[in-house]
Amino acid sequence: MQKLAGAFRERGAEVGTYRITALTAREGRRQGLYCRNQTLDDCHALLVRTIPGGSLEQIIFRMDALHCLEKRGVYLFNPPKVVERTVDKYYTTSLLATAGLPTPPTVVTENYSEAMAAFAELGEDVVVKPLFGSLGRGMVRVTDPDTAHRVFRALDLGRYVYYLQQFVPHDNQDLRVFVLGGRVVGAMLRRGDSWKTNIALGARPQAVTLRPEEEELALEAARVLGAAYAGVDLLRSREGELYVLEVNGIPGWQGLQEVCEVDVAGEIADYVLKELAGRR
Ligand SMILES: Nc1ncnc2c1ncn2[C@@H]1O[C@H](COP(=O)(O)OP(=O)(O)OP(=O)(O)O)[C@@H](O)[C@H]1O
Ligand SMILES: [Mg+2]
Repeated sequence: MQKLAGAFRERGAEVGTYRITALTAREGRRQGLYCRNQTLDDCHALLVRTIPGGSLEQIIFRMDALHCLEKRGVYLFNPPKVVERTVDKYYTTSLLATAGLPTPPTVVTENYSEAMAAFAELGEDVVVKPLFGSLGRGMVRVTDPDTAHRVFRALDLGRYVYYLQQFVPHDNQDLRVFVLGGRVVGAMLRRGDSWKTNIALGARPQAVTLRPEEEELALEAARVLGAAYAGVDLLRSREGELYVLEVNGIPGWQGLQEVCEVDVAGEIADYVLKELAGRR
């Protein structure tokens, strides 16, 4: 966050940081979205960098607030509709699959019996994912019916939605591609000690040169979701098939910055400032 703020300041922009959990909306009199005593309606651009967990009401209020700001002319990066699509694994997967992009077979349901049936249908080797992003945490691989029963019953008690995805055998590595404004700014190979290759779980980033098909798929995934910038996860199976696993609409770039030459924060600042100039 500081790197990003610094990159904007270096380019002459005035920067503030606001917590999305600290918004107050006023309608009628003194209309605006306030954070502390400042109205965010006066900002030229807002970069959404994190949406902490909360109740359904809290999350909806925050997203509504972003939509209102966008409607009133503030440039949102990524736009709220993109944030909504990408924080939700079902929404993302369905948009990718509908556009014909390769995603592992996936079943999403609220129903325990449907989940058990899907477990069998998906070959009794599935990854059960929380619907909303988790940096790899809370994601379990289930490979036998008894465990499936226990896990699914526990999810049922918590009134969770089942997101079951066929496990794709791979070499404990995947690709993270950083897309900005319709081009690839950088990419890294993430090598893990297990099938989860999240940097947050200890996977190591490595520099990589993408094959043309990998670059094209990442660009297409970001385009399908309408993302101005995105971190696209690509997974190659042991058989050599390439899948889009997910598209992050609030991507980080810490691991990426360690292994690639480009100044990612600087690229983002340049892009946003150019977009703003184009809107005036
Ligand atoms: N179907 C799958 N088959 C094999 N490995 C998978 C599969 N789905 C996910 N993984 C592994 O688990 C990691 C995390 O999965 P995913 O990217 O879907 O969620 P996440 O990183 O927790 O979500 P977010 O980035 O939104 O926090 C992937 O990078 C990959 O290494
Ligand atoms: Mg991921």
